[in-house]
Amino acid sequence: MARIVGAVTTSHVPAIGNAIARGLQQDPYWKPFFDGFVGVHQWLQEVRPDVAVVFYNDHGLNFFLDKMPTFAVGAADEYRYADEGWGIPSMFPPFPGQAQLSWHLIESLVQDEFDITTCQEMQVDHAFAIPMALLWPDAASWPVKTIPIAINTVQHPLPSAARCFKLGQAVGRAIESFPADARVVILGTGGLSHQLEGTRAGFINRDFDLMCMDKLVSDPAALTRYSNEQLVELAGSQGVELLMWVAARAALSGRVSGVHSNYHIPISNTAAGLMVMQSGLV
Ligand code: DHB
Ligand code: FE
Repeated sequence: MARIVGAVTTSHVPAIGNAIARGLQQDPYWKPFFDGFVGVHQWLQEVRPDVAVVFYNDHGLNFFLDKMPTFAVGAADEYRYADEGWGIPSMFPPFPGQAQLSWHLIESLVQDEFDITTCQEMQVDHAFAIPMALLWPDAASWPVKTIPIAINTVQHPLPSAARCFKLGQAVGRAIESFPADARVVILGTGGLSHQLEGTRAGFINRDFDLMCMDKLVSDPAALTRYSNEQLVELAGSQGVELLMWVAARAALSGRVSGVHSNYHIPISNTAAGLMVMQSGLV
């Protein structure tokens, strides 16, 4: 049977890709950020996942403003990275898919009344690739198969935090009903507070971020009470990427504990957050 070994949530700022390409991990600007991942690498060695289900947001690569699925699930054997204009060097080998588990998730989600878009072809952007490179920095080839789940956090109306929480729960149930063996890590990418445009460009809200990180472990349902308008106000217009953290956390069932975390301001325009959460004994 498949089991969920835990969840990792992290920011996905494109500049991280350039820092990796240029080997800047020990540079004073970058060190407090990259050092946060040492604990994650140790944890990954302990829990040995072989599949990563990745909640992220497509920033205009597969879907543009004219066609925007609220939730889209990949069902391909392979996902290729494509730069959406940030100029990140194309250093990512293709990401292998797990199409059998993808189709199981899709069947199960539709049964559960989520009207998702199924993508038998899907490219992935910085929001998917950079967290993968942060988690497995030394891999010549990816040690996990992947399943991308894109949540619309770009074109309003966005799904509510409550809906993303339910999506995460449904994904968790679906994974745990997959009959073949798999050790699945859930990723949630984006956030924390940031705003890239307008008069509030550069907006960061440390108190709100830290409250979210705390509640994510102890009482994630509390975060579902925020409307997206409130999230934009409190966390910035791209701070709504917190929705991916909510979905990833919701895939974990039972008593959940925080295994590791880091919070560093700023990386580019973003408050960079990182968490590892685990339920029960793995
Ligand atoms: C930045 C952050 C993001 O989440 C993103 O998608 C693009 C850019 C930034 O802080 O530069
Ligand atoms: Fe983003």
